[in-house]
This record gives sequence, C-alpha cells and structure tokens, in this order.
Amino acid sequence: MSEENVEKSAILGDDTTQEPKRPLSNASLEFFEILDDVKQLAQQTNGEASSCSDEQYYNNAKKYWNKINADDDGMLGGFASISYCDTQGSSQFLQSIFRSKPSPARTYALDCGAGIGRVSKNLLINFFEKVDLVEQDERFCEQARETLEKTGNLGEIFNKGLQEFDPEEGKYDVIWCQWVLSHLKDDHLVQFYQRCIRGLRKNGMIIIKENVTSSNKVEFDANDFSVTRPLAKMKEIIKESGLRIVREQKQHNFPKGLYPVYILALRPVVK
Ligand SMILES: C[S@@+](CC[C@H](N)C(=O)[O-])C[C@H]1O[C@@H](n2cnc3c(N)ncnc32)[C@H](O)[C@@H]1O
Repeated sequence: MSEENVEKSAILGDDTTQEPKRPLSNASLEFFEILDDVKQLAQQTNGEASSCSDEQYYNNAKKYWNKINADDDGMLGGFASISYCDTQGSSQFLQSIFRSKPSPARTYALDCGAGIGRVSKNLLINFFEKVDLVEQDERFCEQARETLEKTGNLGEIFNKGLQEFDPEEGKYDVIWCQWVLSHLKDDHLVQFYQRCIRGLRKNGMIIIKENVTSSNKVEFDANDFSVTRPLAKMKEIIKESGLRIVREQKQHNFPKGLYPVYILALRPVVK
C-alpha cells in the first residue's frame, strides 16, 4: 500500500497531522475551510470522549472491534504484511532481554489485548512454556483458542477489558502489551500497570510495544476510541505507575507513513 492511500487505523500514521503552510489560491482556501471544519469536528468528538462515562468510552472501542475481521489484517489495520517484520523486531528484543541479568524466567507470559493471538502464536509460545491471553472481544478469543490450543502452550484466555483485568499475583515472567494500551484512559493505564506489577514473578518484566506520536501531542482517534501518546507522555505514566524502563528500542523497517513504534521493557522500581 502506498503512502497516499494509507488509511488511519489502529496502528497507522500521523503524517496527516502536519499543518501545511497556507497557500493562497481559491481552491486552497476552500481546502483550508474544510480542514477547519474537520478540526472543529475532531475537537467536538474529543469533547464527547472526555464527557462520556468510562463504560460508554470502552463500549465505543468494543463496538469498533466488533466490526473488525478476526485475522491478521484486522489486527494490523490492513497491514498484515508487517507481521513478519514486527515479530522479528520483537524476537530480537526478547532475546536481548534474556541475555541481560537478572533475566525473567521462561515459565509464564501474558499477552494483553491479544486479539486473535497473533503475538502469542508468532512470538510468545517460542519463548515461554505457557501463555495466557487477555482480550475484550469474544470472537477474537475464540479464534485465538482455535489457533493456540493445538500448540500445547496455551494457558488461560480471559475475555475481559484490561481496565478491569486483575492478573493472579506473582504468576507472570513477562506481561506483553502490544497495540492495546492506547485504548486505556491515562488513570486506568496507571492502575493497570500497578496491578501488573503485582502479577509479576521475581525478575519479571512488563514489555510494551506501542505507537507513539511524533507531533508531541496526544492524538485521539474517534473511530476506535484510542489515544496515541507521545513517548514522553508514555514515560510519565510509566514513572507514575512505579515502573522504570530497563530497555528501549525503536522498531525499524516498517512502511513509511505509520506511527513510530517503540518497544520498552519495564521493571518495578521496587521488587
Ligand atoms: C490493534 S489490535 C492488536 C492485537 C494484538 N496485540 C496484535 O498485535 O496482533 C488491538 C486489540 O486490542 C483489543 N482491545 C481494545 N480495547 C481493549 C481493552 N480495553 N482491553 C483489552 N483489549 C482491548 C482489541 O479487541 C484488539 O484485539
């Protein structure tokens, strides 16, 4: 897919947010009037998002995902082709984690916002004896079960939103969160991280792989009710949650026009 027809989606780019310098032709003026209307509408929707209850907010995302196909294209906003490169980047990152000391054990991982189990299937089952999944969409959970049951590495699948999920205390060596934390409101993300800290075993880590904005602003997507945060904002939330970053890496070789993607390994400040 070329840059021109890249659509905004769960994993997609922020190139359209750059404000061009204003030219002066009539056509351009008309264009900028439309752009202003769009901006106004976006602000209104943003307002709606901040005024709606938590339940409505998460239900809006739920409704969005309910219409999405239970396949790699669905999980990756039409970019199933990046799955291989994504897995390679994650795999190298995990290998570097296991070379570091003290490294997490390889008994139990948790895949958060697991979708159809793409990350579990391509990555986590190769590193861990058992993998649990948490995912809010029932159809995706069923698809993940069908794919992973035969591998012998599947633990439990929890059909829940992360905003209400409470992992078993001391169970997980790695809690992997990919392309899902944008769905949590800031305060719920802090609380989620804090519950995850309790869910970690000795030497355990939370690993997140998420889009970040290059505009330095939080960008709200009224389509799927998600927010893409700048890296600095993500780091603020991490610190506030009682976590520190022990490894940070940018994902390379994704197509142009997508948001930059970062992988961060987090450890509790005290544990
Ligand atoms: C972009 S897909 C990524 C799926 C998977 N992590 C992957 O990389 O293939 C986002 C997933 O997050 C799930 N999701 C959205 N909001 C969620 C929430 N509040 N709690 C748990 N999962 C959520 C969606 O249903 C969807 O499966």
